[in-house]
Amino acid sequence: MYKMISSLSISLLMPLILFCGEIHVGAYLGINWGRMATQKLVPSMVVNLLLQNGISELRLFQPSFHVLDAFADTNIGLIVTLQENYLKNVFEQKQIDDYIHERVKVYSEKGVKFRYVYVGNEPFTKSLYMKKQFNGTIRYLNMTRDALDKFNLPNIKATTPHFTDVLTNVTKPSEGDFREDIKGKMLEFLDCINRTGAPFVIHIFPIYTVYRYGFDVDFAFFDNKSKFKIVDGNNSYTNLFTFIYDTLVSALAKAGYGDMEIIVGQIGWPTDGYVSASEPNAERFHRGLLQYIARKEGTPLRPNKDINMYLLGLTDENMVVTDYGPYQRHWGIYKHDGIPKYKIDFTLQDRDVKPSVAKGTVRMPNRWCAFDGKTDHNESLVLQDYEYACEKSDCTAFGAGATCDNLSFTEKVSYAYNMLCQITNQDLRKSNLSGATMTTNNPSTPDCDFPIEILTAEVVDGGSALTRRY
Ligand SMILES: *[C@@H]1O[C@H](CO)[C@@H](O)[C@H](O)[C@H]1NC(C)=O
Ligand SMILES: *[C@@H]1O[C@H](CO)[C@@H](O)[C@H](O)[C@H]1NC(C)=O
Ligand SMILES: *[C@@H]1O[C@H](CO)[C@@H](O)[C@H](O)[C@H]1NC(C)=O
Ligand SMILES: *[C@@H]1O[C@H](CO)[C@@H](O)[C@H](O)[C@H]1NC(C)=O
Ligand SMILES: *[C@@H]1O[C@H](CO)[C@@H](O)[C@H](O)[C@H]1NC(C)=O
Ligand SMILES: *[C@@H]1O[C@H](CO)[C@@H](O)[C@H](O)[C@H]1NC(C)=O
Ligand SMILES: *[C@@H]1O[C@H](CO)[C@@H](O)[C@H](O)[C@H]1NC(C)=O
Ligand SMILES: *[C@@H]1O[C@H](CO)[C@@H](O)[C@H](O)[C@H]1NC(C)=O
Ligand SMILES: *[C@@H]1O[C@H](CO)[C@@H](O)[C@H](O)[C@H]1NC(C)=O
Repeated sequence: MYKMISSLSISLLMPLILFCGEIHVGAYLGINWGRMATQKLVPSMVVNLLLQNGISELRLFQPSFHVLDAFADTNIGLIVTLQENYLKNVFEQKQIDDYIHERVKVYSEKGVKFRYVYVGNEPFTKSLYMKKQFNGTIRYLNMTRDALDKFNLPNIKATTPHFTDVLTNVTKPSEGDFREDIKGKMLEFLDCINRTGAPFVIHIFPIYTVYRYGFDVDFAFFDNKSKFKIVDGNNSYTNLFTFIYDTLVSALAKAGYGDMEIIVGQIGWPTDGYVSASEPNAERFHRGLLQYIARKEGTPLRPNKDINMYLLGLTDENMVVTDYGPYQRHWGIYKHDGIPKYKIDFTLQDRDVKPSVAKGTVRMPNRWCAFDGKTDHNESLVLQDYEYACEKSDCTAFGAGATCDNLSFTEKVSYAYNMLCQITNQDLRKSNLSGATMTTNNPSTPDCDFPIEILTAEVVDGGSALTRRY
């Protein structure tokens, strides 16, 4: 909708917008830009990319100063996240006040359009649960709200996104409820966001849920190719998205918040690292999803409603944790080098187009690192170096059903060596890997791409140790 409002409705809404400081008119489509990658696009390139593609909303995972700087006066709505690694060192209100002042208040005055502040991320998720059990969410949420109010920023809402595993397993949406072990905390959380008018933010990974439930994988797409259907009273569900969305609506209704605003904070389809994670499937998923949002049909429990969502994500992230699976490093609509992988029309007009390529990257020369394959190497040393290279770089393409799953051992060593070599700007000396050579013959196979990366323009993220990784 954000690209389709007629000029008439804009002019009619203008006084209203100015009057209440309200910016939203209708549904919008945003995108997540995670920066846990060795080869990051620089912030000004990303601003350029968003503007070129008509993407007006972005979620950042860390409010790094130099990233915020790039968004001043762009009219791109921003979500910033206060990460656990920051929050766990917060002991008093003044710390959050100072943080919100320097990163939100000051930047608002510089013309950055903040939409939400996320306080933590998926605190109740089952994955890494024991390690994560992050207790302070509600207190920090309160403190953040307090800070935003102090600086007179009532339109910037504070909330915390959740993963779908906060919901119990159901056979139909009307059974939707929150997990028993977190229900108490969830009710406190809901009370807190309801009091401040903040939305419930849900992260949906259809590829994860469809396999977890053992559903037909076609059910995750929107093109009705699946015969699978879930009937719930008078409602029937022909795709996973509406099924999950209404399960959440039911859970919220049972908790007493049947009308609470829901934002889909992350949704997408990965291109590697798992069975059915591929570029054709990602294109197919997004095409159906965006047609669905453009139709504004809503879901059986919330018919004819706009659904606001943020796609996951802008680029791949080769350093992100893989707690749900190796595919988590392959959510990007773009590769690390700023080249789009498939067709998607962010403007919701269903045009058959690839988004524009990032401008200003520097691609390294066509040189690959490889393992020479000689048999006179100390084998355990080769194995050690192979594992080291994978650990320091990214071998998630070896996952079951992934693109490099079928390489021979020698080829896998080459792949790992190349990955490490590319992220160290093709400097072989940096890693001293046994049997490593440099070659100008592309070792890629028909399925498995040995990438050439761009020069790391941002070796240091301009931040402190706290922000460096994001
Ligand atoms: C969570 O909070 C409770 C008290 O509110 C405390 O006893 C417990 O140790 C905390 N757990 C963690 C993991 O911080
Ligand atoms: C949050 O703030 C509200 C109102 O100021 C208060 O009632 C509530 O106890 C606070 N909750 C926490 C967990 O600090
Ligand atoms: C839901 O089902 C999955 C897969 O069977 C299981 O791992 C998970 O623990 C279940 N969750 C709940 C809340 O029962
Ligand atoms: C949620 O907030 C709305 C609006 O302030 C209020 O009318 C409603 O009673 C609240 N719901 C609950 C369960 O507290
Ligand atoms: C799929 O089928 C449903 C129910 O028959 C229909 O409402 C919807 O428009 C169809 N979607 C597509 C993309 O064909
Ligand atoms: C289903 O629809 C029928 C006919 O419109 C209606 O009588 C019935 O109450 C509905 N059932 C539910 C559970 O909504
Ligand atoms: C091979 O390398 C391993 C690990 O570094 C080492 O322990 C072993 O002694 C080496 N073997 C030979 C024959 O050099
Ligand atoms: C790998 O080999 C298996 C078994 O031969 C085959 O089913 C699969 O399609 C292959 N994967 C790729 C990516 O070629
Ligand atoms: C490279 O690795 C080999 C084998 O472990 C070792 O003998 C050599 O000293 C290393 N060279 C450098 C420069 O670290």
